Amino acid sequence: MTWWNEFAERVERDVALAPLTWFGLGGAAAYVFHPRDAEDLAGFVRLAADESLPYRVLGEGANVLVRDNGVDGVVVRLDRPAFRRVERRGQSVVAGGGAGLMPLVKYCTDEGLSGLETLAGIPATVGGAARMNAGGRFGEFGSFVREVTVLDRKGELRTFSNEACGFRYRGSNLGDYMVIDATLDLTPEEPESVRRRYDEVFEFKRSTQPIAERSAGCIFKNPRGQSAGALIDRAGLKGTRRGGAMVSPRHANFIVTERGARSSDVLHLIDHVRDRVMHEFSTELEVEVDIW
Ligand code: EPU
Repeated sequence: MTWWNEFAERVERDVALAPLTWFGLGGAAAYVFHPRDAEDLAGFVRLAADESLPYRVLGEGANVLVRDNGVDGVVVRLDRPAFRRVERRGQSVVAGGGAGLMPLVKYCTDEGLSGLETLAGIPATVGGAARMNAGGRFGEFGSFVREVTVLDRKGELRTFSNEACGFRYRGSNLGDYMVIDATLDLTPEEPESVRRRYDEVFEFKRSTQPIAERSAGCIFKNPRGQSAGALIDRAGLKGTRRGGAMVSPRHANFIVTERGARSSDVLHLIDHVRDRVMHEFSTELEVEVDIW
């Protein structure tokens, strides 16, 4: 028996991952599994534990660089309706782990629920945003979370309070889990004023970042008290290329890629930028994107 028999109609084999990521780069996954719901996913997780089958979740692919030789094991996509539900409960919203953050932000804005508009324009799923504590200068996902329900590596559902999630700068304690849903506490406000703030945040992003190009957002975390983008810029690296990858002339903490680029081009450019910034400022840059 092969592991996927029981899941066959929800498993694809040898799937190119490049089109599923914002970078548009990298090799294939041996399997992609689209669970029907949390119970189906729990069944898979238990089987994967028995068979020592590696697996990981791919959300919006906005913060992932897949290596050219692809990934072994199973890539899980929470793209069925059960994982994408968004439900208002008074001042709170419960959103599935596979729901898109951008549509969720728009939904809350239209509903006159304020908070998430500070995240306008950040591509992510709710699960990815929770795990990474997605955010920027205007806000962070974690500050709106009341609790998160996850599936653990044994296939058990667990609920984490905001405190237990351990949100920090671009991180949380959720790394080992799959986010089933998140409950967010928001503040009622006139939709018009929420929309105005949404527009301001989005306009800032649009005017300072290369949002129309193929990238994974910021490549490096901001080192303590400093801006990675400003350091890379001051090192004179804007426009530096390796193959089809380039340090964005618009925002130096973005690497943008053109058609024909390879993941190895991006990895070489990352090494070069880290070396130069270390040499110039004795500052170590830590990669923010997930490299698979
Ligand atoms: N700067 C430069 N040159 C550049 C880029 C930036 O001199 O090429 C300077 C800016 O002028 C500013 C400072 O560096 O004085 C900070 O730049 P910015 O305001 O653009 O913010 P950031 O710290 O580079 C952070 C997040 C972004 C988020 C923005 C806006 C990190 C690593 N980055 O960028 O998040 O969108 O704030 O809220 O925390 C991401 O995580 O993928 C991401 C894009």
